[in-house]
Amino acid sequence: MSQTSPIIVALDFPSERETMQLVEQLEPSLCRLKVGKELFTRCGPSLVKKLVDRNFDVFLDLKYHDIPNTVAKACVAAADLGVWMLNVHALGGEKMMAAARQELSGDDSPLLIAVTWLTSSGQAELDALGLDTTPQQMVARLAQMTKNAGLDGVVCSAQEASMLRKSMGDDFCLVTPGIRLADAAQDDQQRVVTPQKAIKDGASYLVIGRPITQAAEPCKVLRTIISDIS
Ligand code: C5P
Repeated sequence: MSQTSPIIVALDFPSERETMQLVEQLEPSLCRLKVGKELFTRCGPSLVKKLVDRNFDVFLDLKYHDIPNTVAKACVAAADLGVWMLNVHALGGEKMMAAARQELSGDDSPLLIAVTWLTSSGQAELDALGLDTTPQQMVARLAQMTKNAGLDGVVCSAQEASMLRKSMGDDFCLVTPGIRLADAAQDDQQRVVTPQKAIKDGASYLVIGRPITQAAEPCKVLRTIISDIS
């Protein structure tokens, strides 16, 4: 189905029951849904298919990272579930990403994006790996590799969106987590950005979890965010 909402709700739940309790309050015209490692490992492909059957665009956030052939085949399996977007880890390298792209090159293939340098990793992790660079340089480098491999975009911190929008051009998809409404709790996120600022800085899609999933009225919060950014 054709959707226009830039909001991707992160379904970080441990069970199908809790997931569907939220999903039943949401609408495909207002948001897309993200299924990550915890929910997928617990509930598997059948839950993904159930969400797709309810006409939601699903982002399967499993961050594949393995030898090129294994990743490419995993991407095909994910596409067969009918997901709208899926991702690999850019640290797997250009060859790995190109192999995935080759398998998902049809017009009806899902969007294929890459995670660059995780926002939970910083300078200390680069130093520990013996890499003489900064997180920002690493993000720029991995994003360029992602583009060279022909992928559609990257997951990045909203704080990197404006730099990547300039360097990667308008057609490159930027998916940003770490979004918080003004005056709301930051939870465990270190560097947060409001929905308006993320969109202004060039984000294509905003991944939002707890500000919506833990709200007393999730759909009301979702509608407020949409109206704030439109
Ligand atoms: O609840 P919250 O809005 O913090 O959820 C953000 C979602 O985005 C979670 O599913 C989290 O795993 C994901 N994410 C993130 N930071 C990254 C990559 C993914 O918060 N760098």
